[in-house]
Amino acid sequence: MIVDGTLGGGGHSEALLARGASVVGLDRDPSALEAASTRLARFGPRFRPVQGRFGDVLALVDGPVDGFLLDLGVSSPQLDTASRGFSFQHDGPLDMRMGREGETAAELIARVGERELADLIYELGEERFSRPIARLLKARAPKRTHEAVEAVKAAVPRKAWPRELHVATRTFQALRLAVNDELGELDRALAAIPGLLAPGGRAAIISFHSLEDRRVKQAFRALCGEAPDELPRGLPVQREQRADFVALTKKPVIATGEEVANNPRSRSAKLRAVEKKS
Ligand SMILES: C[S@@+](CC[C@H](N)C(=O)[O-])C[C@H]1O[C@@H](n2cnc3c(N)ncnc32)[C@H](O)[C@@H]1O
Repeated sequence: MIVDGTLGGGGHSEALLARGASVVGLDRDPSALEAASTRLARFGPRFRPVQGRFGDVLALVDGPVDGFLLDLGVSSPQLDTASRGFSFQHDGPLDMRMGREGETAAELIARVGERELADLIYELGEERFSRPIARLLKARAPKRTHEAVEAVKAAVPRKAWPRELHVATRTFQALRLAVNDELGELDRALAAIPGLLAPGGRAAIISFHSLEDRRVKQAFRALCGEAPDELPRGLPVQREQRADFVALTKKPVIATGEEVANNPRSRSAKLRAVEKKS
């Protein structure tokens, strides 16, 4: 049995089911579960949808399992639906919740202090104009995505707007990660892997930015008994006596040119995988 921890539109689950696997599809977003369940109904009891967070995978799924797949971030339906409030391109309520519980992005901006907001935008968005952006967001208290975009535009000097990215990309990423505690969820899922997988089982994670990929890389290195790469060379590193995992990807797998042409959102995807030893 394979756990697809990020069911989304069900594309990955469908590919696994078509190859004969049984799949538990987890998603915290009830709309995703509904749409994917309809799409995958033809596979009958081999597919089981479960609503919940992948950080809780050990509580949600009876293990051990043969595979655990995560395709991090938001789905295209979430991004493209204005009323979900993820997009700086479509105006909608400044929501950004993947599930239907908890605080919206607008409520988060209203609750935290200016300094905390600036730190959050700096750390989770790697945005160097975090301080002026936080100041204007606090002053304007946006309720709509376009109001937030206008605040970011006004806070960043025109000549410093990035060429490759929309000027609000990093701020929106930071707010989304914070609203959904995405890095916390990832850490909990990474910690669950040893207890979740059966011998010979595999975990594969697709990440979309460096904050996620760094965590996956370090966690997988630790599982494979390798030293974390930020330690200075020559230090007497204490390695695990016996690693329970082997790496299936020495370097992250990235999308081919053809795949990027067909699916531009795959351009920043990185896949890493490990296997639990038998
Ligand atoms: C990039 S999409 C997955 C797309 C999917 N692989 C497909 O083939 O259509 C990510 C999905 O994961 C869900 N998600 C993100 N974080 C989650 C979490 N912590 N727990 C459960 N689902 C989560 C989102 O709601 C979204 O539907």
